Amino acid sequence: MPAPLPSDRPVRWGILATGRISATLVDEIRLTPDCEIVAVGSRKEESARRFAATHGIATAYGSYDALIEDDAVDVVYVGASHAAHFGAVRHCIEVGRPVLCEKPLTVDAAQTEELVRAARAADVFFMEAMWMRCRPGFAELTAVLSSGEIGAVRHLQAALGFVATEEHGHRLFDPNQAGGALLDVGVYPITLAFATLGEPDEIRALAHLEGGVDRSVVMAMTWPTGATAVLTGTLEADVNTAAVFSGTKGRVEVTEAFQEIGAFTVAVEGRPSRRVVPPAEGRGYVHEIAEVVRCLRAGLTESPLVPLDESIAIMRILDECRRQIGLTYPDAAYR
Ligand SMILES: NC(=O)c1ccc[n+]([C@@H]2O[C@H](COP(=O)([O-])OP(=O)(O)OC[C@H]3O[C@@H](n4cnc5c(N)ncnc54)[C@H](OP(=O)(O)O)[C@@H]3O)[C@@H](O)[C@H]2O)c1
Repeated sequence: MPAPLPSDRPVRWGILATGRISATLVDEIRLTPDCEIVAVGSRKEESARRFAATHGIATAYGSYDALIEDDAVDVVYVGASHAAHFGAVRHCIEVGRPVLCEKPLTVDAAQTEELVRAARAADVFFMEAMWMRCRPGFAELTAVLSSGEIGAVRHLQAALGFVATEEHGHRLFDPNQAGGALLDVGVYPITLAFATLGEPDEIRALAHLEGGVDRSVVMAMTWPTGATAVLTGTLEADVNTAAVFSGTKGRVEVTEAFQEIGAFTVAVEGRPSRRVVPPAEGRGYVHEIAEVVRCLRAGLTESPLVPLDESIAIMRILDECRRQIGLTYPDAAYR
């Protein structure tokens, strides 16, 4: 077990990559108690300097390695595009730096397995930034589902996506950056299904492929219990981003942006429906940041809210879906 961080100072974050989600995380880290941001690293010096000036960060590095090797950084947040996750996390583990890495953890399960093995061998904190699982609403949702209030859950329908444009970034359509709907948005409904229903026993996936990535993907799954799910991820349709769990006695509907699990409705036949509105802070990332702080303060190397074994299992599901839809990435995506 690593030594807990010194308690007389805040947890010092380093931000790796200067894209859109890194900017959001900077704001959210600053909303989280017991945190400060000490440095940013980018592939380009100029980007690092610009990001540091915009966000008031003291140190800017023109390489990821320099950020990772800075001993003034207690934990690195990896906000780079998917294909850059593996190398960045591997280096963090090599130097013993705790790391929170964006979803999906890597391009395929073999890479995730390698990183998890290395992190466990080196006793280094490692967590997937699957913020949905850290939201208070997630615990409330799973409590309602397991309470039996809607009976046995027999079906889940969940979709996530949007109409992506150049404004959302080139990476979504770039095979070299492991773009596509499955890895970017499909990972959310798959995670929701896995976390609530367990490991599926059968998976069928279909996709619209264009330009070397999946623009839309639909997945049907079954579980040994007889439960079924229909899951969607898309970069080309204004889908209803809802999740509906249907049980033998009623339904739980997460009607808006299910990945935020901001509020949901429990509808049981013969009773008035009730609305559950869990607490939420910031834009929703504060809870995962606080979970990292809690783990580091406790000397934990894995978060029980986002178990690494489940991150591996979910990567294997992504692999299987990609196999079925015939999506292979070029070597450049496996850096
Ligand atoms: N948790 C969430 O809600 C959420 C939301 C959006 C995205 N994400 C995840 O966060 C990651 C980044 O997404 P984003 O929307 O922030 O993407 P983005 O705006 O395109 O930024 C990605 C960053 O990755 C770095 N990068 C590394 N290798 C690159 C390459 N070959 N080409 C281009 N950029 C490269 C760049 O930073 P430098 O130039 O500074 O090196 C770039 O700014 C993805 O893995 C995504 O799945 C999570």
